[in-house]
Parts: sequence; C-alpha cells; structure tokens
Amino acid sequence: MIRKVQVGIIGAGPAGLLLAHLLRRQGIESVIIESRSRDAIEGTIRAGVLEQWFVDLLGELGLADRLHREADVHDGISLRFNRTNHHIDVAGLTGGQRVTVYAQHEIITDLVGALTELQHEIHFEVSEVSLHDLESGRPSVKFRTKEGQDCELQCDFIAGCDGFHGPSRTSIPAAKLRCFEKVYPFGWLGILCNAPRSCSEVVYARHDHGFALASTRTPTIQRLYVQCDPHDPLSDWSDDRVWSELHQRLATDDGWTLAEGPIFQKNIVSLRSFVCETMRHGRLFLAGDAAHIVPPTGAKGLNLAAADIVVLARAFTAYYRENREDLIDGYAETCLQRIWRGERFSWYLTTMMHLDEGESDFERRIHLADLDYLMSSTAAQHALAENYVGLPLQR
Ligand code: FAD
Ligand code: DHB
Repeated sequence: MIRKVQVGIIGAGPAGLLLAHLLRRQGIESVIIESRSRDAIEGTIRAGVLEQWFVDLLGELGLADRLHREADVHDGISLRFNRTNHHIDVAGLTGGQRVTVYAQHEIITDLVGALTELQHEIHFEVSEVSLHDLESGRPSVKFRTKEGQDCELQCDFIAGCDGFHGPSRTSIPAAKLRCFEKVYPFGWLGILCNAPRSCSEVVYARHDHGFALASTRTPTIQRLYVQCDPHDPLSDWSDDRVWSELHQRLATDDGWTLAEGPIFQKNIVSLRSFVCETMRHGRLFLAGDAAHIVPPTGAKGLNLAAADIVVLARAFTAYYRENREDLIDGYAETCLQRIWRGERFSWYLTTMMHLDEGESDFERRIHLADLDYLMSSTAAQHALAENYVGLPLQR
C-alpha cells in the first residue's frame, strides 16, 4: 500500500506525538508509525519533571486537563549533602516559574488518547522500518504493519522522532554525521513504590556511596532513584539493598524520614551525554532523543525534545503557509543552541552530584567546592534555578 502524506513521523514518544498535535493545529497532515504497542508506550516509566513553558503549551493545546488535576507542582528543589538539606527556591529566583512533576507515560497517554479521539492515523507495532530517498523531493518510509502488510509512506518531510536507538539517525550516511558523546561510568536504578510522599519537592542527594534522588508521583506512589553500576543485573538489587542505600544516601540530621512501601517497578538506565549536530539530512529532520541525550539528573531530556518540536512545527508551518524555507534551513542551528545549554547543565549537575570512582581527589574536591559555592551565592542559585525551569523558548 502506498500512502502520500505531508509529514511522516517515526516514533510515538513525546516528540512524535507533540509534533502531530502541533501540525494538526496548523492544518498540516501527518501519519505516525511506532514499533511498540500502545500499551507498551503508555506503560514505560521514564521522565517526571516538566518545564513551565511545556506545561503552558500543553494547556494551550487543550491537552493538560488531567495534568492540572493530577500533577504535583513544586516551588523549589532540594540539594542534599553532608546530611543536610538545602532548599533552592526556584519560583522565588525565577519570577514565579514552578516545577511540575507529571510522569512521561501519563503525557503519552493523554497525547495518544487525544489523537485517537481525533482519528489521527497512528500505526502501532510496525516493523521493517526503512527510510529512502532522503535527499530527493519525495522521501519515503517503508514499513510492515502489525497485520503483515507492506506499506510505503511518501512524504514531503520525515520527522525522525524515534529515540536514541531508532533507524532515523542511522539512515544518515556516517560521513555526514557530526556527533559528540560522553558515557558516564554509572547508571540509575529507578523504583516506583506504594508509599506516601517523603518530600514535598524533588531531592537530589550527593553521598559517599553515590547519588540518590527522591521524587514524587501521587499521594500514594513515590519515585526514587539510586546511582548504580550500569552493568549491574537487576537481581543484584534486592528490595532490602535498595532501601538500605536510599536510607543512607538521603539521610539528614533534621529528623526527616523516608517512607517505605512495596516496590512494584524497578529498572536500570545508563547515563550518557550525546549530541548529533546533523539534525537535518535532506528532507529528514531528527528531533528529541534521536538527536541528543542528556543524563537525567537535570530533568532536561523530554523538555529538550519538546523544544525541538516547537521549532520544527514552526518551520513546517512557515513552509506550507508562506512558502518559506528559511526556518527549515535554520532548524538545526536554532535547536542546537538550546541543546548545548541543556547538555552543559545536565553534565554539570550530574558530575557535581554523582560519585565517580575514576575521578581524582582533586576533581572530587572541586565538586564539593561547587556545592559549597552554590549554597553561599544567590547568583549561583539563580543560575541553577534558571536552567532547571528551562531557558526561555520563543514560541
Ligand atoms: P522516546 O521517548 O525514546 O520515543 C521514541 C519512540 O520511537 C519510542 O516510542 C520508540 O518505541 C519509537 N521507535 C524506536 N524505533 C522505532 C522504529 N524503528 N519505528 C518506529 N518507532 C520506533 N526528561 C525530562 O525532561 N525530565 C525528566 O524528569 C526526565 N527524567 C528521566 C528519567 C529517566 C530514568 C530517563 C531514562 C529519562 C528521563 N528523561 C527526562 C528523558 C526523557 O525520558 C527522554 O528525553 C524522552 O523520552 C525523549 O522523547 P523522544 O520522543 O525524543 O524519544
Ligand atoms: C525525576 C526524574 C529526573 O530525571 C529528575 O531529575 C527528577 C525527577 C522523576 O522521575 O520524577
């Protein structure tokens, strides 16, 4: 089956789904193909923290009703070290911008639900995805449907929103790819558990055993992370070991206690910084994790992905509405400025808060000096807060 469409979107992650919504608003037609099932994408546990502008955008699109009912909204974050909690007044330092905690899979559920109601064409569980004729005026995506039918999407443009491991980036000839990467020697073990919130805001802790993070989800579900070896098998992390490490790493001397409860989800992710500056190849445009990865410490990945999409949707709109190609031509350059700022912030917070066995004592002292400076300087706290809520994005 051959199907002609203005924009073919590969991947129904936050990037691909948001793009479909923004294009619909402009009357631009798109089709999404996704290799996993709807249940799988709605059930994958990942990000939690959303920047204010992104929450506002979802609201403008009419996609934030459940978010506004269910999300946790915080005025600040905490940095914890030497058994002491230090509150950073993010809202006070940024003119009232707040930190919204709403799980990524809930956003996916909301975005897919709305597209389904609008009868938007989404193909789940596709396979054999391949990209063709990217440098021609009529690029195409071939795939096999869940039912086994071979299809070809003939597009004006292809949006590669298929995450770090998808086929879009690898369809660009290696000689044309300009990539930068840093792989960290540690990972995060994340858990969800049935327990009330232990903290009223997200807590980032540095400890001699390694990093720990306490976040929130609902009044009865907590999200927690501990730094681990990315190669650890999950079986090395019994529930008892997870709780023991969390208790030690998050401990303070002010009487705070960590609420425990049955763990019902556990997974390990590795940490990486990666930028593919070749975000455009002919008529293929990479967006989100397909083009860049940040370690999750700064809570920037999903937000950067959404920012790419705002720029891409604006570029496609200028093309179709005004016959302009300048925004398409400027897509990568526009996105990369924000991406590198997000990369810098995520790297800074990651290296400052994690224990790296390979680091010299000198480097370790520098991270402690960084933390000490942060606690003693409003200017430094201002910079942290400004980055945490997200740098300004022209919409
Ligand atoms: P993805 O979410 O990876 O979506 C890509 C989609 O493409 C997937 O559904 C995949 O199945 C599909 N796909 C892949 N291959 C194919 C194919 N061949 N054909 C069709 N479809 C395909 N970010 C934040 O902003 N804030 C946070 O607090 C935060 N916390 C995080 C915590 C953790 C533990 C982790 C792991 C990440 C966190 N992130 C956070 C990062 C965030 O989850 C990602 O940056 C975000 O998912 C990127 O969205 P995306 O749409 O670009 O890619
Ligand atoms: C969460 C994830 C993050 O990466 C982070 O920096 C803060 C919170 C979370 O899952 O809630």
